[in-house]
Amino acid sequence: MNLLLRVNLAVGVVFATGAVVTGLVCSDLVHSNAQREAFAEAGLMMDAANAMRTYTSSEIVPLLDAQMSHDFLPQSVPSYAAVQNFLKLRESRPQYTYKEATLNPTNPRDRAADWEGDIIQRFRNDPKSEELVGERDTPMGRSLYLARPIHADAECLACHSAPSAAPPSVVARYGANNGFGWQEHEVVGAQLVSVPLAAAEASAAQVLRAFVTSLIAVFIIMMAVLNVILYLMIVRPVRQMARVADAVSLGDLTVPEFAASGSSEISALGRSFNRMRTSLEKALKMLEG
Ligand code: HEC
Repeated sequence: MNLLLRVNLAVGVVFATGAVVTGLVCSDLVHSNAQREAFAEAGLMMDAANAMRTYTSSEIVPLLDAQMSHDFLPQSVPSYAAVQNFLKLRESRPQYTYKEATLNPTNPRDRAADWEGDIIQRFRNDPKSEELVGERDTPMGRSLYLARPIHADAECLACHSAPSAAPPSVVARYGANNGFGWQEHEVVGAQLVSVPLAAAEASAAQVLRAFVTSLIAVFIIMMAVLNVILYLMIVRPVRQMARVADAVSLGDLTVPEFAASGSSEISALGRSFNRMRTSLEKALKMLEG
């Protein structure tokens, strides 16, 4: 195997191993970065939902109080306000969802789906748990969810304990079967935010592809330069020297001297070789004489 091939193979193997390890480390890095971004978005949505809830209970409820004595207005319910807002947002950003899911909801649209029911159950099994984060596949691609438990406080029981205890206007509007039976302090549902992961992951993959492509391009350029240098500085002079040595060893003393200029090790070797050849020629002449 010639020198150039060996050097190319050795450097190629080292590069390929390095590229695979770097690729894996970077892929991990950009993936977790995408997750962090999605998690930050979900946190922002959760905080926005809570701000809407607070706004509704502190500023909207007092305004509607008078009207509410004869007719119940859902606009006074914090959960309704937050969900309505995010339904509007969903029209332009369908992958961003917010839900206040319960197992037995007052409004049927809030009924927990299977996976949401599982999360509520996990909050019930672990009362200290304040937050759950996870990923799941949706028809619109992979998405990240952030969930927080909804606890029943004493004030909630005015409408959510028993139909007989609830304002008649609430029962008249929603019926006596839904949204009741809550016990104080129990986990009754969960606030659930879903944000898309697919877009963040696609841009992470794009970054990774650009990085690996430029790594390979730098490697190819580096190998081309290395090959030219190796050829000009080592392979070509060594081949020339081998040709001269071959000719001399076969008794042909007419071949020109090896051109050894410069201060490299190969030039030093060439000069030594030329001196050896001169000595050999002298010795041969003395023998002939
Ligand atoms: C004045 C009555 C009233 C009180 C008090 C009340 N709610 Fe509700 N709640 C409702 C009504 C009515 C709805 C359904 C609104 C709609 O149409 O979406 C609702 C809906 C909800 C929902 C969405 C799930 C569902 O049942 O549709 C959650 C979660 C919720 N309430 C939590 C609470 C919590 C927690 C409290 C106490 C901090 C509370 N509620 C206090 C009347 C009330």
